[in-house]
Amino acid sequence: MQENILVFGANGQIGTELVEQLRSVYLPQNVIACDIKLPDFEHRKDGPFEECDVLQKRSLSSVFKKYKPKQVYHLAAILSATGELQPEHAWRLNMDGLLHVLELSVGFNVKKLFWPSSIAVFGPHSPKHHTPQSCVMDPTTIYGISKLAGERWCEYYNIKHRLDVRCIRYPGLMGWKAEPGGGTTDFAVHIFHSALESGLYECFLQADTEIPMMYMPDAIRAALELMNSPAENLSTRSGYNISGISFTPAMLAKEIKKHVPQFEVSYTSSDPRQAIADSWPKSIDDSLARKDWNWEPHYDLISITEDMLLNLKK
Ligand code: NAD
Ligand code: SER
Repeated sequence: MQENILVFGANGQIGTELVEQLRSVYLPQNVIACDIKLPDFEHRKDGPFEECDVLQKRSLSSVFKKYKPKQVYHLAAILSATGELQPEHAWRLNMDGLLHVLELSVGFNVKKLFWPSSIAVFGPHSPKHHTPQSCVMDPTTIYGISKLAGERWCEYYNIKHRLDVRCIRYPGLMGWKAEPGGGTTDFAVHIFHSALESGLYECFLQADTEIPMMYMPDAIRAALELMNSPAENLSTRSGYNISGISFTPAMLAKEIKKHVPQFEVSYTSSDPRQAIADSWPKSIDDSLARKDWNWEPHYDLISITEDMLLNLKK
């Protein structure tokens, strides 16, 4: 009999694709999708779903009790842009949710826990180019502050409770299967939908804002590769830097125009998300992930654009 895997925040941008991938690797009935909102995707019918709020510890505990999971992926969070609109709630969800999952994972002898951190842990005083694994970290958003604190909690649980927790600092993620959930990097998905639907897009970031990004198949593969790595190879539990590509909205628009020649992009002059993007790195040094678990990205701007357009057209 295969061991159960719980995925919290399963209906979001990452969870949608992660659950699908996990169910193709493990038996679908062993991958339990959990979210506060009911699933509205066809593929959720492929396996079990539990309606569950990570802030309600008692009901969360009953899910652990019911499934006795050996692996947990905890994705439920509020992202950077939405977090600035409701900072107290973002702090509560991102911190208390994580603390509940950490504590229950220890209590129910979970073998491995995956938790995504973000490039939002960096701030204005972090080096902008090839931002290293360890450096000054002074995040300016509640989201980034919660991710940095979360990283410390993960490391703490590993040291104090021997919990095998594994973390990645994701850059902005792009995919065609699910909508992004309120982040600063959402433009990189919206732009494709607009290119195909109206041929016009008003970008909320300035044309020359360089930002680290990654295609979802690389991001999902990274999570699974990290989870499958021998524990003794892992030299940090507080979030591996991983790099995909870096581009600006203008570079992305130019690449899309090769396929949709009439596409026009304009740029909003003042949007609060600009300050968030400006506080983040422009590129990431992921040498530790490459060394510890052989990380390498597969997709570049050309292949991402081709794949996004091909699938969204379908
Ligand atoms: P998302 O907003 O698309 O999905 C989050 C999911 O969590 C949603 O389905 C939501 O319904 C669920 N959720 C919210 N509150 C909940 C609660 N109380 N209990 C249970 N579920 C709840 O987010 P995402 O983009 O899929 O991100 C997942 C994780 O990855 C987050 O921790 C995020 O910080 C991290 N991350 C994402 C990106 C990115 O670009 N998408 C980049 C870096 C890190
Ligand atoms: N893509 C995320 C955001 O923009 C970064 O973690 O919030």
